[in-house]
Amino acid sequence: MKEHASALIRAAVLAVALGAASHVRAQDAPVPPTPEAGRKAYTSYCVRCHGINLAVSSSAFYDLRTFPKDDKTRFVESVTQGKRAMPAWGGILKPGELEAIWAYVGSVNGW
Ligand code: HEC
Repeated sequence: MKEHASALIRAAVLAVALGAASHVRAQDAPVPPTPEAGRKAYTSYCVRCHGINLAVSSSAFYDLRTFPKDDKTRFVESVTQGKRAMPAWGGILKPGELEAIWAYVGSVNGW
């Protein structure tokens, strides 16, 4: 009986430990570089300035529909470090989100 109870406790402790570990892994897991994941990140961080489906409402904001598809380096630098009125996103984006947003911009622009 005692043996049985301690086995149950061990199983419960293990389940909690595994649950905690998988929780940490889920948070740290990089966002997949898919347009769909990028759309979500874009909606969280970028849409308020760059507009729904990249359609800007004001010329004060850069029109991402005109971003050159062969200049990913510039995209990465501008987004990571910021540019004039645009804040820097380097410390805010989760791993993989920048790549995903690039894929999303490409999918909207038909690249
Ligand atoms: C607070 C408003 C604001 C938000 C939010 C914002 N941007 Fe911007 N963004 C700007 C402005 C303003 C510019 C124009 C900067 C300039 O050239 O003066 C710009 C420019 C850009 C450019 C062009 C940079 C270049 O090299 O010319 C890219 C790419 C860009 N934004 C991507 C993003 C992405 C991706 C996000 C979300 C992670 C985002 N922006 C969020 C305001 C914003």
